[in-house]
Amino acid sequence: MIEATTTGSSIHLRAQSNCALCPFTGKRKVGAEHPATAKLMLVGEAPGETEEQLGKPFSGASGRLLNWVISQVGLFRPALWITNVIYCRPPQNDISTIDGSDAIDACAPGFRAELEAAYDAGVRTILALGAVATKAFGITGAIHDVRGSVYTYTTYSGKKFNVIPTYHPAAIMRQHWKRSGGGTADAAVLWQADFRKAKAISEDGYAPYEERFNLQPTVADVTAFVEKAISSNALVAVDTETTGLSYDYARIVVIGLAVSPEDALSVPILTDHGRPYWKPEEWITVSAALNKLFQTCDQVYQNCFFDVPILRKNGFEVPFEKILYDTLLVHHTLSPETKHDLATITSLYGKTPFWKSEFRDRETTILDMDQMVMRRYNLRDCVVLHQVLPAMLDDLRTLKLEELWRTEVHPLIPVVLEMTETGVGFSPSRMATYRNTLTAHLAALKTELLTDMSLPDTFNLDSDDHIRWFLYGIEPTSFKHLPELATKKPGTKIYAELSGLKKVHDEGGPRYILPSWTPPKTDTGKPAVDKEGLLAYRIQLNNRLSTIKSPEEQSAIRRLLDWMTKLTEYNRIGKLLSTYTKYKPDLDGRIRPRWIIHGTVSGRLACRDPNLMNLPKPKDDPTDPASPVRSFFVAAPGNVFVSCDYINLEAQLLAFETEDPILCAVFEQGLNLHDLNTRSMFKIEPDNPRWKSARKAAKVFFFGGISYGGGDQTIYQKVYLEAPELNLTFADFKRAKDSWMRDHPAYVAWKNRIITTVMRDRELRTEFGRLRQFLGNAADIGKEALDFMIQSAGASLVNRASARIYARLRQEGLSAKFVLQIHDQLVLECPESEAESVKAIVVEEMERPFLYHGKPRRIPVEATIGPDFGAV
Ligand code: URA
Repeated sequence: MIEATTTGSSIHLRAQSNCALCPFTGKRKVGAEHPATAKLMLVGEAPGETEEQLGKPFSGASGRLLNWVISQVGLFRPALWITNVIYCRPPQNDISTIDGSDAIDACAPGFRAELEAAYDAGVRTILALGAVATKAFGITGAIHDVRGSVYTYTTYSGKKFNVIPTYHPAAIMRQHWKRSGGGTADAAVLWQADFRKAKAISEDGYAPYEERFNLQPTVADVTAFVEKAISSNALVAVDTETTGLSYDYARIVVIGLAVSPEDALSVPILTDHGRPYWKPEEWITVSAALNKLFQTCDQVYQNCFFDVPILRKNGFEVPFEKILYDTLLVHHTLSPETKHDLATITSLYGKTPFWKSEFRDRETTILDMDQMVMRRYNLRDCVVLHQVLPAMLDDLRTLKLEELWRTEVHPLIPVVLEMTETGVGFSPSRMATYRNTLTAHLAALKTELLTDMSLPDTFNLDSDDHIRWFLYGIEPTSFKHLPELATKKPGTKIYAELSGLKKVHDEGGPRYILPSWTPPKTDTGKPAVDKEGLLAYRIQLNNRLSTIKSPEEQSAIRRLLDWMTKLTEYNRIGKLLSTYTKYKPDLDGRIRPRWIIHGTVSGRLACRDPNLMNLPKPKDDPTDPASPVRSFFVAAPGNVFVSCDYINLEAQLLAFETEDPILCAVFEQGLNLHDLNTRSMFKIEPDNPRWKSARKAAKVFFFGGISYGGGDQTIYQKVYLEAPELNLTFADFKRAKDSWMRDHPAYVAWKNRIITTVMRDRELRTEFGRLRQFLGNAADIGKEALDFMIQSAGASLVNRASARIYARLRQEGLSAKFVLQIHDQLVLECPESEAESVKAIVVEEMERPFLYHGKPRRIPVEATIGPDFGAV
């Protein structure tokens, strides 16, 4: 038991606290660290165990992390005023209890008095660490929303502080260098930024922006705004609010326009409950003024891929070349691995305090909410673009990313906009035929699977529980209800269900169980029966098969293996059916996915809703069930697709990057990469009967383990799946891999160099200038780094070629349009008569030589012309 003593001279600061009413009264009080003069104050929650023992705030684990960030941003702890909302330690460090809130109330008078004293010592800026401290200053909202914003707090006596909420060190400790739900490690990065901001404000002071917003304009206001913007050559920040996201049905409610961090005009189109804001004759003038603005002034957006297509669909003439900046893309260029939403960007570079909740958390539709609140929200979305842009452009310069922006990212904007707007033609009848064929195929497989093992008709092949019971003998928890069957009435639904389950229990159990085998577990801790789980089991069954002598056991295993091969096919067909037979075209019959430039850390485009990047690659076998999918995507009558694909892009870049002599020789002398790899791994020649299988294995190994730096176990499983007839054990695989590595010392040296660098710097830059910070766990970043160097270089080549092609097509007056960019393949649609000219341009631009490590390089492409995507 620690004695309740007071420490230091700071306790008097809380003399006004109502300790008599506090549930924690009698505990040791942990006072503030309070230098005689201080500019910045840090406010935590309550002391923890170490703090209570030592009588010093932030002296335990949280304190150590706090000390780290303090030194990281160039602050000096002895110069900081450090305190907590309450001075006594809550039981189990839990302040979220009723006692905890009573303690906060009891300590509040003392806390307020301490703030007065801090002001007198010179404190004007406060970092509120975590939700409890943030709330103590009357700031509402979730910490991840309000963090990084600057709020004014006024004491009873009228003293004013700038208060910046940020994460508590304990929250950072929980996710330091870990990717949180969104796949980022933002918290640690943002935390440091908040400390930097607090330091700067404590040293230089803070002047918030005014909001000179016109929310109810007249026609004259709009025309005057436009004239002034044009005559002053203003960069105009634009943002639209719409009634939804649908390309066909979304209507624009308001267009926000800002010409400075403070000056903005709202141009409503619809107002309360969907009424038009303008009379028809007014609208003629207003829309003409807007079109003039869009055609004359340079513009900045946050995600122009949303606003610009909607504006153009609604008749506004927004030329792509007038889009000078997109803050989302600038931020992605600066910091590919963190979040790029506008609130986060503003918390880093701007001043408007978090403003998103009034719109985001509304309880009505956009047209039924308070229109003034909605328009103010929209204009904040605009003015912040002017607040953040100059500082972000500064960072582009400082980080030497300007050229990447200029030569790769910015020129990609029109390409992606065009692709978004154009969409891709689609044949619903081909998809319907495919769906019918697959459904029949699936039904036939189901019958075979049930018949082969005499399984009851209530056995559900799609139920993981049933599969676990059949393969591993693990009883589903539902079996515990079986005794209830005796109590149920025949003819009822529950009776039918339980009798079905009983059949599964009696007739669906395991036919063979592998001795001493523990299946791998899924994330939820259940034995895995997904693709990987089944594969691992097949590998083990095969291993057993090669060691046992009993013909009965051998035949049981063979039978099970055959069944599992069929089950894998059944699962694959099911997946094809659920993934590739649900496309919904827009009213004009075209599919318009979202192409996302900021969707990957490498700079490769991502594609969503639907994701066309994952369209199965046509196999050499035209009867493969996946092969028809690409042919759903068709050119319009009279048009064709021109497709161009880099040949072996990643392998070639790997050769240039590592300067591995064998890999370089492959491409310089036209040798066969996979033949060489097969020899290197397995030390066999083409006349060996195992050659064909070994070559398949070598191919998987090279693409998975070398190009992508995949882990040994994963690659081994993939190799096994591709060439099961090789019967490769893990040890065989490792030997083959080591053999390859011995033949490629330059690759190994490169790999080691990259991994060492990323571990040391947590940062890498590609040959094309793209910079990435690596915020993940140390265990992951080595592989990520190897991947990044190759993937991102590939992205740069594809992106830069796309931008050049786009410019050339315009120069030469051709009407071809980009419709797809899938990995290393570009697909354009054009009239048949243009096809050969377009193909020549695409080939020339994609094959244009470039310098890599100072040496001129060129990567060949394969070009085709055809009526649908399956044919190119
Ligand atoms: N957590 C806090 O909030 N304050 C401390 O002093 C220590 C841990």
